[in-house]
Amino acid sequence: MQRHDVVVVGAGLAGQRAALAAAQAGADVALVSKLHPLRSHSGAAQGGINAAVGAEDSVETHIYDTVKGSDYLGDQDAIEFFCQSAGPTVVEMEHFGTIFSRGEDGSLARRAFGGAGFPRTIYAADRTGLALLQAIYEHLGGVPVTTYEEWFLLSIVVRDGRVQGIVALDRRTGAVEGIAAKAVVIATGPAGRVYGRTTNAHSCTGDGIAAAYRAGAYLKDMEFVQFHPTALLESGILITEGARGEGGYLKNRLGERFMSKYAPHVLELASRDVVSRAIVTEVNAGNGFPGGYVTLELMHLGREKVESRLQEICDFSRSFAGIDPVTQPIPVMPAQHYMMGGVGTNIRGETNLRGLYAAGEAACVSIHGANRLGGNSLLETLVFGKQAGTAAAAYAKDAPDAAVTPADVDRETAALHALEDRKDGESPQRIRADLQQTMDSRVGIYRNPDDLHRALVEVRALQARWRAVRVEDRSSTYNIDLTDALEVGHLLDLAEVIAVGAIARTESRGAHTRVDFPKRDDQNWMRHTMARRTPEGPELSYAPVAYTRWEPKERVY
Ligand code: FUM
Repeated sequence: MQRHDVVVVGAGLAGQRAALAAAQAGADVALVSKLHPLRSHSGAAQGGINAAVGAEDSVETHIYDTVKGSDYLGDQDAIEFFCQSAGPTVVEMEHFGTIFSRGEDGSLARRAFGGAGFPRTIYAADRTGLALLQAIYEHLGGVPVTTYEEWFLLSIVVRDGRVQGIVALDRRTGAVEGIAAKAVVIATGPAGRVYGRTTNAHSCTGDGIAAAYRAGAYLKDMEFVQFHPTALLESGILITEGARGEGGYLKNRLGERFMSKYAPHVLELASRDVVSRAIVTEVNAGNGFPGGYVTLELMHLGREKVESRLQEICDFSRSFAGIDPVTQPIPVMPAQHYMMGGVGTNIRGETNLRGLYAAGEAACVSIHGANRLGGNSLLETLVFGKQAGTAAAAYAKDAPDAAVTPADVDRETAALHALEDRKDGESPQRIRADLQQTMDSRVGIYRNPDDLHRALVEVRALQARWRAVRVEDRSSTYNIDLTDALEVGHLLDLAEVIAVGAIARTESRGAHTRVDFPKRDDQNWMRHTMARRTPEGPELSYAPVAYTRWEPKERVY
């Protein structure tokens, strides 16, 4: 049995930052990840990280933009702390060795992003996540952290009213192992693979969120799912908002810059919920190109700018769509991109379970409320990863010893054997495909009650099918069929919470658009959805939104 003070699960930016903070606070730290840390989905983040660093910009404006962008559902005390932490966080990452792009005068280059009153998105071409990930990974090498690479989280052990550690599958050997820990930090990223059309990596299956939910943690605001306006038509690969920030235009089949109808002041740089709805509205009105899409034009920016600032976009468009953005429009449509919801935490990353912490996209503090601004996600991973790691280490210092028992390990081993021994049943991949079809078609950008109710019925039928899922692969090393089955189980749990929350919320706010309740309803719905797992499914309750200074107003872009 392994034993540590703090176990951080997930080794993207939030997990690595949490591990670094906990180790620097003197804790014995383990970092557990189903992937090599440099393959984490944080590395796919393209456009940049927000911080008000220049004399012309202000933290105050960043706070206001984030509150407004959240459609007033973000907790304002948390947003204030978050935006105040932005400058020091970026400077720290630069000192860790992140190679940010530079302006002519050598200062940090900044680009415009949607919903921001000032160009405050600092970037490394269009590979910002990768640049940050590499820098923090190198820095983490300088502190004593034990890394369990390719270990897959099976459960969080909770006993005597507190967390005791985790049980995980070592994918390289097939062994089920317990790791005792006084504190566990969940930083496993999102569950974007609930949808088929998504910018998320295949690994984004919500494993830590589902484990926390099963262990008794509350999930917060799960119905708020962000759709990024511009993903490549066929593949769903992200085309960064930075492309519009650099001056790209969205056009419909009639050649119109249609955003003038929806956001006359800022056009393509409205917040993501607004731009995604506009694109779908155009296509539904028959203004899309045959096949149903709009285009993103960069040709007027010139080869030098496009190829130097948007290198990945050029590569992706050429390789995956056969399009050269320097000379041709890029066919795009929205795709699932981010989950505003997650494991409910406070500003220190604490959940309702003693000893359980969460950070990054797996968590919901909430700073994004009903809609996240582009560039605030990379910042979130670092600010709240540090917070959670620091708090977990402080808690572990005085917490009693923790224990994962042989019975905890045997329970998970038996569950895996039951899966492997089953003779008949469906493949996990088949169930996943059907789940994604349901979520894509019924729980998308525009939501209607019939589809939402049908989605819930379908998800529950898929949960029943999953209980008879069959794993064909019998190998004990790198059994992807087995981990696929486990991941699909996680996705199904979380899809159910998304659907139940979306049915209950009878208003339109941020990314949650109900066609039968088209207006925001501050009287009844200025509150966070909290979901707790019961044998009958998610049980919802509601928590107040924290206000400091900003009264809800109509959002005008
Ligand atoms: O468009 C983008 O580059 C995405 C950035 C983000 O989600 O923050």
